[in-house]
Parts: sequence; structure tokens; C-alpha cells
Amino acid sequence: AKVVFSGIQPTGVPQLGNYLGTIKNWVQLQQDPEAQRYYSIVDLHAMTVPRDPKRLKQETLEMAAALLACGIDTQKSVLFRQSTVPQHSQLNWVLGSITPVGWLNRMTQWKSKLQQQTNGILDGVNEHSLNVHSSAAQGLLTGLFTYPVLMASDILLFRASHIPVGEDQVQHLELARDLTVHFNKTFRTNLLVMPSYLLTATKRVMSLRDPLRKMSKSDANDQARITLADTDDQIRKKIKKAPTDSLSQITFDPKSRPGVSNLLSIYAAVRNIDPRVAAQEMQTLANAQMKEMVAQAVVDEITPIRKRLGELLDDPQYIEDELRKGEERARVVAEENWRQIAQCVGLPA
Ligand code: TYM
Repeated sequence: AKVVFSGIQPTGVPQLGNYLGTIKNWVQLQQDPEAQRYYSIVDLHAMTVPRDPKRLKQETLEMAAALLACGIDTQKSVLFRQSTVPQHSQLNWVLGSITPVGWLNRMTQWKSKLQQQTNGILDGVNEHSLNVHSSAAQGLLTGLFTYPVLMASDILLFRASHIPVGEDQVQHLELARDLTVHFNKTFRTNLLVMPSYLLTATKRVMSLRDPLRKMSKSDANDQARITLADTDDQIRKKIKKAPTDSLSQITFDPKSRPGVSNLLSIYAAVRNIDPRVAAQEMQTLANAQMKEMVAQAVVDEITPIRKRLGELLDDPQYIEDELRKGEERARVVAEENWRQIAQCVGLPA
């Protein structure tokens, strides 16, 4: 059986990297009539970056509305908030109980988040030199450290085979794969299903201020990202200001021309073409003309989404009802799968 699972943090309205890196793919995967789909707003994961409870609630609502606005169809996909399915936390404990600390120590994401949270106190420490024994890491919150175990639990709880994500999640997916083997070996079973990840051509959308860094919600500069709530004007301005280079023709070459190539990738993704084809199409254009074409394509894609998003946010009760329906369906599946896992490890099933 093909079971698609993915998750997204409730960070309010998603940015273009979320959309092109994965959400657009979630929507496209709805065309497969054979597959089951589970899309989770991972509010438990969100707690690893402390924030105001009211804000968490609001940003969860906005994320749900945005996913619906992008075309997640609750007839075809189960859309739910992670915390409403308690079996995520139960499996998290079971998996955490067989996960060596060394495996988590190698993960790079907690290192960059710790660096962000401590605002430069960790200056000079990077993802290679920092480890869980470093004195700089003693304030590291346990939840942030064990985050990838909860993520593996999400996937394995639903016996998911296909996981659409952006590139920054690949290391976590490798851990989930390792844990699958490790669990099955430890408990002499083949119960847990090996997940594979699905990447898109825009698996890493770059910042519009610095094309060597990925576009992210946590970037302090909001000119670095486009969100699905941006107006046409905001989108055009941000793309206009994006750094490029002074070479004379438009070509696609991410290594030597990161700025131009990022814009070409974005254009190609919304037009569903290959970025090299996009480069040929625009070969003789000046940078300014190329940017206008990119901006127009992004505006065409986002405008209808922004309008639907606005309508949906006017009706929070509708969103809550859609989520609750999804959550009932998610719990039925999670209960049954958990029952089998519990039985396998010797807990009451
Ligand atoms: P999150 O919420 O950070 O991001 C959601 C998805 O967006 C992708 N993404 C990008 N893709 C391309 N370019 C970018 N600049 C960019 N920025 C973000 C991410 O790769 C991700 O696919 N840990 C996950 C959530 C999660 C999950 C799961 C995912 C929890 N459980 C189980 C898959 C399966 C996260 O924090 O994603």
C-alpha cells in the first residue's frame, strides 16, 4: 500500500520554500487514487521552540487555512494536528528508548537552532565542532535534541512509505530509516515500514537576500522570503531586490550563479518546467526583465491562494471543523497501528 505522510510546523502562513519544497507536492500527490495521505500540523514539534501559547494557537489556525488554500482536499487527504493523536507521543517514548544519544548528536538541525536561540553566544561554534557534550550545549532543551525521534514516530505510526519533504529534512529521514531497521531487529519483527523520501526540483529554495542560505521563516529579515500572504506588490519588490550577478546571459548554474539560478528554479517550479528550459527561454533577457517574468509567474501562482486564504481565515469555525474530521480519521488508524506496536513490544494492547 502506498501511504504518504508529511508534517509541517505551525509557523503561521507558510513561506515560498515550504510551498515549493513540499506543499505543492502534497497537493499533486492527491492525484493518485491508490494512495492514502496524512498531512500533519506538528504542534508538538513546535513546542521545542518556545513561544506564546496564544501565538501557537493562531499560527496553527493560519497554517491549516493555508494548507486548505493551497489545495489540500480533506476528501482526499487526512489533515490533522499532531497533538490530537496521542499515539505519536506514545511511540515517541518507545522509539526514544532504543535511540542511542550518539545518533541524535550527529543531527545538524538542533545545532543551528541552538545557535539561533542563543543569539551569537555560540559564535565560532559550528555544526561540526558543537556536540551534546560541549559546554555551550548544556542549555539545549531535551525536546529540541530528541525532535527527530518524534518525527520518526510520526512517520512510523502511520506505516508511511512515501514522505514528501524539502532537503533540510533528509538527515531526519535517514534517522527514521535507521530506527525502522533498529526497531524491527530489536523486537524481531517486520512490523515497521521502511519510509522513503520524495524531493522536488525545488528541494532547497534560497533566501532572496543571500542565495547561499535557505529561505526560512526564522530569518530576521522579512525581505528574504515571500509568504503566501504577500501582495502582488510585495512579491514584485522582493524579487526585484534579489541579488544576481553581472554575467551577460541567463544560464542555470546553481554553483557559480546562485542568485540567478534560485530565481530560475522558482520560476520553473511554478510553471512546472525544468529550470534549464527556463534558462533557455530567458537566455537573452537582462536581469531586470528576467526578474519581471519570475515575479509575474509567482504572482500568478500566489494570488488565488492568498484570496482563498483570506476567505478561510474569516471562518475559523470551518477550519476547526475540517481539522476535527481529519483528526477522527487519523486516530482510528493510529489506534490500530499502535495496538500492533504495543503488542509487539510487550505493552498492553
Ligand atoms: P518545517 O515545518 O520546517 O518545514 C515544512 C516543509 O518545508 C520544507 N522547507 C523547504 N523546502 C525547500 N526550500 C526551503 N527553503 C524550505 N524551507 C522549508 C521542509 O523541508 C519541510 O518538508 N521536521 C519537519 C516537520 C515534520 C515532518 C514529520 C516532516 C514533523 N514530522 C514527518 C515529514 C514527516 C519540519 O520542521 O518541517
